[in-house]
Amino acid sequence: CQHHAASLLLLPPPPSCPTLTSPGGLLSHVGTFTIRLLQTSTFQNTSFVETEGLGLLEDIELGSLDKHTWTIRFYQPWVRPSLPRSDWDTIENMIKIYLQQFSHLINEGAMQKDVPYPFVAQCMVGCELYPNRTAQSFAYVGYNGQDFLSFNMDNATWVLSQDTSLSRYVQAILQNYTAFSELVEVLFNDTCVDDMELLLRNGKAALERQELPVATVFARTPRPDQLLLICHVTGFYPRPISVAWLQDGQEVPPGPALNTSAILPNADLTYQLRITLAVAPHDGHSYACRVRHRSLGTGSLLIPWGR
Ligand SMILES: *[C@@H]1O[C@H](CO)[C@@H](O)[C@H](O)[C@H]1NC(C)=O
Ligand SMILES: *[C@@H]1O[C@H](CO)[C@@H](O)[C@H](O)[C@H]1NC(C)=O
Ligand SMILES: *[C@@H]1O[C@H](CO)[C@@H](O)[C@H](O)[C@H]1NC(C)=O
Repeated sequence: CQHHAASLLLLPPPPSCPTLTSPGGLLSHVGTFTIRLLQTSTFQNTSFVETEGLGLLEDIELGSLDKHTWTIRFYQPWVRPSLPRSDWDTIENMIKIYLQQFSHLINEGAMQKDVPYPFVAQCMVGCELYPNRTAQSFAYVGYNGQDFLSFNMDNATWVLSQDTSLSRYVQAILQNYTAFSELVEVLFNDTCVDDMELLLRNGKAALERQELPVATVFARTPRPDQLLLICHVTGFYPRPISVAWLQDGQEVPPGPALNTSAILPNADLTYQLRITLAVAPHDGHSYACRVRHRSLGTGSLLIPWGR
C-alpha cells in the first residue's frame, strides 16, 4: 500500500491505506497550511483560450501548467518523486479533460449571454489544514478580475459573489455540472488531510527555510524642517516580521509620523518592507530600527540611526 500525493490533485487515496500517523513527527507541524491551485483562462475569442495554472503550498510554487501543452512543470524537486510517473500521467490527462470541458462550457455560456470577448475566467481551489487535523476546502471563480462565485463545501452549492444575470446563469450551469463539484469534493474535501501531510513531510525543508533579514537605515530631508528616517529590511523568509522604530529605546506607536509599507516579494522568495519615521532635525532624541523575525530566534536586530 502506497500513499500517493496524487490524491492531492485528483485521486482519492486507496481505501485500504492506513492513516499516516508516524510517531516520527509527520505531524510535527504547527499552524495552518494552505494549498491552492490557481487557473487563469483568457478567452480571446470563441476559438482561442489561453490557460495558465499554478500550484502553491503556502507561498511556495510547487509547479505550473505549460500553457501550450498543458503538461505539469515542477518547480520543487520534492513534488514529482512523491508519485509514480503513471499517477502524474493520469493527473495530466484529467487536467486536459477538465480544461477542454471548461473552455467548452464557458464559450457556450458566453455565446448564450452575449458576453463580450476578450474576457478572463479564474478558478482557485484548495484546502486549508488546521493544527487540530481538520481541513476546510474552498473553490472560487472570478470573472474579469472580480469575485464571481464561490462553492459552499458543506452543502455542495454555488454561491453568488455578485448578483448579475451572468453570474446567475453560470451558477445554474455549474450546479448541474456535478463532475466539477464531485472532483473538488473528492480532491479537496475528502483527501486534504492525507495529502497535505505528505506534502508537509516532503516539503519540510522548504517550509522551514529561514533567511535572515538585512536592514539598512538612512535618511531623507524632503523639507528643511523634516527628517525622514527610513529603515529598509529585505531578504527575509518566512514572510511574518516585526519592524519598529525606537525613540530613546521606546517603540514609536502607530501614528501620523510613522509609515509602514506593505510586505513586498523579492524574486528569490524572500520579502522586503520599509518603515519610515518623520522627525524634526536635531530634536535631541536617539533613534534605532528594531527587527524581530523567526530567523533571529528570540533575539532582535537593532540598527541605530547615527548622523
Ligand atoms: C479545528 O480548528 C479550526 C480552526 O481553528 C476550527 O474552525 C474547527 O472548529 C476545529 N475543529 C475541531 C473539530 O476542533
Ligand atoms: C466535506 O467534509 C465534511 C467533513 O468531513 C462533511 O461534513 C461535508 O459534508 C463534506 N462536504 C461535501 C460537499 O462533501
Ligand atoms: C506613507 O507612504 C505612502 C507611500 O510612499 C504615501 O503615499 C503616504 O502619504 C505616506 N503617509 C504618511 C502619513 O506619510
